[in-house]
Amino acid sequence: MDKIVVTGGLGFIGSHTVVELQNSGYHVVIIDDLSNSTEKVLEGITSITGKTPIFEKLDLKNKTAVKAFFVKHNDVKGVIHFAASKAVGESIIEPLLYYENNVSTLVYVLSELRKLPAVSFIFSSSCTVYGQADALPITEHAPIKIPESPYGNTKQIGEEIIRDTCKVVPALKAIALRYFNPVGAHKSIEIGELPIGVPQNLVPFITQTGIGLRKELSVFGDDYPTHDGTCIRDYIHVVDLAKAHVIAMARLLQGKNKSNFEIFNLGTGKGTSVLEVVKSFERVSGKELNYKIVGRREGDIVSAYADTNKANNELGWKTTLSLDDAMFSAWKWEQKIRATE
Ligand code: UD1
Repeated sequence: MDKIVVTGGLGFIGSHTVVELQNSGYHVVIIDDLSNSTEKVLEGITSITGKTPIFEKLDLKNKTAVKAFFVKHNDVKGVIHFAASKAVGESIIEPLLYYENNVSTLVYVLSELRKLPAVSFIFSSSCTVYGQADALPITEHAPIKIPESPYGNTKQIGEEIIRDTCKVVPALKAIALRYFNPVGAHKSIEIGELPIGVPQNLVPFITQTGIGLRKELSVFGDDYPTHDGTCIRDYIHVVDLAKAHVIAMARLLQGKNKSNFEIFNLGTGKGTSVLEVVKSFERVSGKELNYKIVGRREGDIVSAYADTNKANNELGWKTTLSLDDAMFSAWKWEQKIRATE
């Protein structure tokens, strides 16, 4: 079976994707620098799939090491590129770090891939490229907005780098997947999200509050023009998201792509408010969540949810797991990691 390299394969979305790739029979090689993950994730992957992927600890900023890696693995058929820094606030304080981590590394990887006979490439992009879209649900044709942060900009630039490279390297075929809000954990609770420090994202903050690690959740604003005044997002279960990567990779490997660079939204198509996420947590955990309404968070958009028609029709993929499934697994995962601390 084909060899697939997964950069950032020990991270949140990466590890779930490695599981789905292995379950589909692919031979997986993980690259990770362990900057936001641990080697213990390998054990979780192994216990779910019964197979230990090859793991190479490698910093993609090391151009020489990247070159040596792809000389060694010159039989690779596909690369799924997750490795990137993703803290929006940190990216505003440390823009150069983000451009180096997210942009330079992409250039180094593509520079090696263009030397190979044929490679299929999947890029982790984000709905952040749409900013506050003018029309909902958001289709892939929605205009790209001026990025709110260097992090968001690295996703836009990343897509452009790949588009430009695909124009001149016919052996390279690529898909950018624009994720909405990935949440949840594998149902085995062998792998899940491991945020470092105080979580910036809603769901890990909720589960950490539920377990008593945080006093209360601050809900950022209840005066937005939405049905309950809180912001709307499209929360997608990480396992559904991971499966989309396997389908997108197969599309490229089988030559079913319509152009050398394609873009797909990955979301559920359903908008959910912050308070509805809180209610889902309370439903699946049987716990009342301590929360208070505070002022708006700077840079937040009011509402974003995906038009999923292109992914549904072209990829033949759709989500099967609910928000309650995601919150239940996220809660089980939180309980497990705190019990083993
Ligand atoms: C954030 C990033 C986005 C990134 C995405 C990855 C910002 C501005 N955007 O998106 O670039 O691609 O994560 O998942 O950081 N909320 C609270 N209290 C909290 C945390 C969040 O009320 O303690 C609210 C937010 O105001 C928002 C919703 O929950 O309405 C979701 O927030 P979050 O999980 O941070 O995701 P995004 O803001 O959508």
